[in-house]
Amino acid sequence: MKSVVSYPERGKWGKSSWRGNTCGYIIKDLIGHFKPSLFVDVCEGSGTSGDVCREMGVEYIGLDLHKGQDFTKDSILSFLPRPADICFSHPPYHCMIRYSGSVWGSHPVDGDTSHCKSADEFLEKSQVMLLNQREATREGGIYTTLIGDMRKNGVYRSFQADFIGMMPKNELLNVIIKLQHNMQSNGTRYRGRFIPVVHEYLLIWRKSRKTLFASAWDTARDLKVESRSPGDRPSG
Ligand SMILES: C[S@@+](CC[C@H](N)C(=O)[O-])C[C@H]1O[C@@H](n2cnc3c(N)ncnc32)[C@H](O)[C@@H]1O
Repeated sequence: MKSVVSYPERGKWGKSSWRGNTCGYIIKDLIGHFKPSLFVDVCEGSGTSGDVCREMGVEYIGLDLHKGQDFTKDSILSFLPRPADICFSHPPYHCMIRYSGSVWGSHPVDGDTSHCKSADEFLEKSQVMLLNQREATREGGIYTTLIGDMRKNGVYRSFQADFIGMMPKNELLNVIIKLQHNMQSNGTRYRGRFIPVVHEYLLIWRKSRKTLFASAWDTARDLKVESRSPGDRPSG
């Protein structure tokens, strides 16, 4: 795996009819790289990662709101036999694609992050998801999310930057840029200076021994140092 990946085909795993489905090749690469014995997907949708895990002989647990598990409320860890080696999510990109009441089910369901009323509500709930994933991961294991940025009504929201900022700095392991293919908007012709977004990000963290409290303390100390004038900062 390298820091830029591109898979022109999504592969045979999961369902191509599930809008916003994950490309199975990125799951294959994650598994090939980190060699987990337990892989958990907290928004499995059509089951892409489950299909890949079965093919690669990796133990798998898949959760999703459409199966009754809500990552903004329920403890992911409570559904697992032991903490995960990789805890993966491919959540909604805010309201880009609405899931409950559209891709599945007959009406919007509480907790569905594709139905958040604002980007701030989406980020708040996504932070709960990421902390929940972290808690469900063993020390030294990987928690990771596939997320895209969004432009709506001329406003660009970099969700990947927000996600990185919300989690412990010392745990960020890699930021992978994944080129997007076969998007519905690929046929759109853009005019003027508009630059279409044709990539998303796989953010990878490694869970450290530090408690969340200790990590938050480090962040607060760094911010304090940064806010001092250059002459007041400790050298070295
Ligand atoms: C991008 S899709 C996942 C696609 C899937 N990986 C696949 O390949 O088919 C996002 C999923 O997040 C789920 N979801 C939205 N809010 C959720 C929540 N609060 N808890 C659990 N799953 C949620 C949706 O039901 C949807 O299946």
